Amino acid sequence: MALQVFPQGSVRSFREAYPGSPMHITHQLVGHPLLEIEALARLAERIRPEDLEHNAAVDLPLGISNAETPSNGLTVHDTIASIENCGSWVLLKQVQQDPAYRDLLHDVLGQLRPEIEPVTGEMLNLVAFIFISSPQAVTPLHFDPEYNILFQIRGTKTMTVFPAADSEIVTQTFREEYYNGRPRNLPWRDEFGPRGRDIHIAPGEGIYVPILAPHWVKTHGEVSVSLSLTWRSEWSFQQEDTHRFNSRLRRLGLRPAPPRPFPRGNLAKSVAQRALARVERTLAKAGSGPG
Ligand SMILES: [Fe+2]
Repeated sequence: MALQVFPQGSVRSFREAYPGSPMHITHQLVGHPLLEIEALARLAERIRPEDLEHNAAVDLPLGISNAETPSNGLTVHDTIASIENCGSWVLLKQVQQDPAYRDLLHDVLGQLRPEIEPVTGEMLNLVAFIFISSPQAVTPLHFDPEYNILFQIRGTKTMTVFPAADSEIVTQTFREEYYNGRPRNLPWRDEFGPRGRDIHIAPGEGIYVPILAPHWVKTHGEVSVSLSLTWRSEWSFQQEDTHRFNSRLRRLGLRPAPPRPFPRGNLAKSVAQRALARVERTLAKAGSGPG
């Protein structure tokens, strides 16, 4: 990509913030033909159906569980076609399965590689998501297991970001259950409100969201389109392994120490978890053989 996506000032600010602090950035992706609503409607027709999510999204409580999130009664394609009026939220996941979006993901994140890799090591598992939202849509409180830059393409939204280390908002046991398959939405308590930072974005602006930092999002008076580009690091995989290993220890009645925060690694528990998981996979395979 010849286009320089990030102005130098944003790159400098990103370097200072990464990886622990949320930050507002500016970018040059508005008007990109792959991010127009018509292109996104066509993309939704050709990506894997399991990579499409949609639901009703207006007047949702911040702490609604994934199971309680209401359907809007429409197909995802009809939802996109009527997004201005249907009070909904659409997520296109893993859009790098389409070669043009894969190139966009790698081109854009490649421009920050010199800032990222000296700090958190090799960028792993690059994944792109696209959010299409009606006016006044709410994405309830949750956290994500990736480093994320959210690029606002159309409309405006406000993300309220909370510290990743706030162990009242996300408890150790919630994280452990999440890494064992529990859905991501978090319970909300009003006392959490003042601990968050509101970051408002319009087209041409974006947010770096630190890994595991809880956040909720609200769109304003127009249709919103946002692109989310994410990556992982070896530290983040070790942290995930440690939560899974800790849940094993907890099942044995122990009270394990939480994963060590960045930049300290979690190698021992990660190695143990990976070894146990390998044994379990081998046993499962042997148990499912003929006979
Ligand atoms: Fe998120």
